[in-house]
Amino acid sequence: MPLPCMEGSIYHFIMNRNDFPILSRTVYGKPLVYLDNAATTQKPRCVVEAISEEYYNVNANVHRGVHFLSQQATDLHESARETVRAFINARKTEEIIFTRGTTESINLLAFSFGEAFCHEGDEIIVSTMEHHSNIVPWQMLCERKGLKLRVIPMKDDYTLDLEAFERLLSESSVRLVCVTHMSNVLGTVNPIKEMIEKAHAYGVPVLVDGAQSTPHIPIDVQALDCDFFAFSGHKIYGPTGIGVLYGKAEYLERMPPYQGGGEMINKVTFEHTTYNSLPYKFEAGTPDYVGSHALAVALDYISNIGLEKIQAHEHELGQYAYQQLCQIANIEIYGPLSAVHSSLFTLHSSLLSPVLSFNIRGIHHFDLGTLLDRLGIAVRTGHHCAEPLMHRLGVEGTVRASLSFYNTKEEIDSLVAAIRRVQQMF
Ligand code: ALA
Repeated sequence: MPLPCMEGSIYHFIMNRNDFPILSRTVYGKPLVYLDNAATTQKPRCVVEAISEEYYNVNANVHRGVHFLSQQATDLHESARETVRAFINARKTEEIIFTRGTTESINLLAFSFGEAFCHEGDEIIVSTMEHHSNIVPWQMLCERKGLKLRVIPMKDDYTLDLEAFERLLSESSVRLVCVTHMSNVLGTVNPIKEMIEKAHAYGVPVLVDGAQSTPHIPIDVQALDCDFFAFSGHKIYGPTGIGVLYGKAEYLERMPPYQGGGEMINKVTFEHTTYNSLPYKFEAGTPDYVGSHALAVALDYISNIGLEKIQAHEHELGQYAYQQLCQIANIEIYGPLSAVHSSLFTLHSSLLSPVLSFNIRGIHHFDLGTLLDRLGIAVRTGHHCAEPLMHRLGVEGTVRASLSFYNTKEEIDSLVAAIRRVQQMF
């Protein structure tokens, strides 16, 4: 499929780049080239200002006070829930639970879903390319309740083996499938709609880890028909410490609370406590009401630009980055693009990814990352919280450049020039 026409968009995105003051700073006297967006994105001025504005002018605890400020803060918090609902097209706001981030969303689910629906001998399916946060909470559930963890293998083209997935579904008593939408290491975008259909054919619900996909791909949880969807605010231009768990009400209603405390109750006596309705049953304690509002401001900011436009621009950048990196001697790139013939890859826009992991033969990933940093280039190195995937790739770690719509081709040129400079040092 040809890439959408990008005419005129470059100016558009350069204007947006000015919304991110941090992108104009220097490090070690060099212009910052920020290519660690899969770890966290930078924040536009409107998000930072929304945070200070709320603390300066509105701050009060939500849902608790009769006074003006409390009501205003509650309105902002609840309207943020509606913004999130609309952003992922959930049916109702009751299905949007605010958490501290994807990790907490998955831990909440592992505990509460585990309590409600899992029994000894049952199985949970994850995939080879999961982040630790979509592995360890399930292992903990398995230990707690005597379940077994099964793993969808990855093929040599860095995609999941869907035939093996179907075998796992058919062979065992699977309670839940937990799969990432987009790998934080490979950039592989998994065919989650197809995977959800397969799982549902066996009556098995699906959690989609959307931490990496949500900033890059429009999400419609109803169209996907996923049962749970988790994402983090800080990876989508919002603040740290706020995230979301979407769940179908039919499941959430039947799940027990994750934490006890204020707000999640209906009535408390020493003899017996009853719980609040959705979503508050899962939101014990004072929520991060400033974070939720700032997240909504970030989502509005992204929606105003348009995720489709962002996706098209990032496809073009990803393609350019891949082509340029391929020119470097002794480079090994890990990801679905590298598995197809180079003359074909422009035809496969689904393979174009804003996440590029690589190694340079003869240079340790940590050394390369450290020297790139000295040249002003911020990348991530290491196992990227995906050690089982590293074992599958047969490496200890990689260097990862991850792109945002505010990155430019010139920044990719800087990365490539910096890698060449490091190679000359070795
Ligand atoms: N999960 C984040 C990453 O991949 C931190 O970098």
